[in-house]
Amino acid sequence: MTAPLETSFADLGKVLVIIPTYNEIENVERIVSRVRAAVPEVHVLVADDNSPDGTGEVADKMAAVDGNVHVMHRKGKEGLGAAYLAGFRWGIDHGYDVLVEMDADGSHQPEELYRLLGGLRGADLVLGSRWVPGGRVVNWPKSRLLLSRGGSTYSRLMLGVPIRDVTGGYRAFRKETLLGLGMDQVASAGYCFQVDLAFRTVSNGFKVAEVPITFVEREHGASKMSKNIVFEALWRVTVWGTQARFAKLTGRKKRR
Ligand code: GDD
Ligand code: MN
Repeated sequence: MTAPLETSFADLGKVLVIIPTYNEIENVERIVSRVRAAVPEVHVLVADDNSPDGTGEVADKMAAVDGNVHVMHRKGKEGLGAAYLAGFRWGIDHGYDVLVEMDADGSHQPEELYRLLGGLRGADLVLGSRWVPGGRVVNWPKSRLLLSRGGSTYSRLMLGVPIRDVTGGYRAFRKETLLGLGMDQVASAGYCFQVDLAFRTVSNGFKVAEVPITFVEREHGASKMSKNIVFEALWRVTVWGTQARFAKLTGRKKRR
């Protein structure tokens, strides 16, 4: 890990790092401390879906002693997408200008946050990317690598978005991007939420940049990835892609 050359992002406005959690008791304290140490000026919002393991209470204890740490207690497990949407709304309502997505399990290294924030000076959305030069994945089983690469390639071809890592979950949005992409119409619950938002960002004419990251597989706790999440992604991407093609076709016919 290289030390950031630059740690002030005041020119970007107020930055909120949103960390969705479900049963991350072994990870939550460490990830929040790492974010606070890596870029001290940022605020953190832990969006907890009433984790049975007590993650929310651990987050509360951190918030009690650090004014830059906030906790959102949600009523139950409603998916990553729903937690992020609620977090974005909270952040925008509380005057933040930049909203960052980050997993709790250490896969997204806070020490690389400066790269995402730096990229935002020339873009409306910055994606931490595993699949651009310099990007890497550490400790992923072959099956997960195939799923991720396959999912990214399928989404890119189906939707025509010029993005290498369209499923990734380490990202920084400008507030204006989120406000302009129709957040209220987003129905994706699981991880296809990431594809959904990237597609909407591109479709609305916003500028997307990818910066390389090293994604490190979690050491503690379990992934919440499931078959249902994969199926939701597959059918939604297929529907969006088909609709987009159809719209193009009928659009052309009208013009002729
Ligand atoms: N609040 C809340 N509610 N948080 C959730 C939920 C939920 O229903 N489901 C997952 N999370 C949280 C986890 O606690 C963790 O902090 C983060 O979301 C990511 O969950 P993981 O289960 O660790 O995801 P992953 O490692 O399998 O997938 C990652 O990579 C994918 C791309 O390959 C994530 O970054 C995905 O967003 C990404 O699409
Ligand atoms: Mn993970």
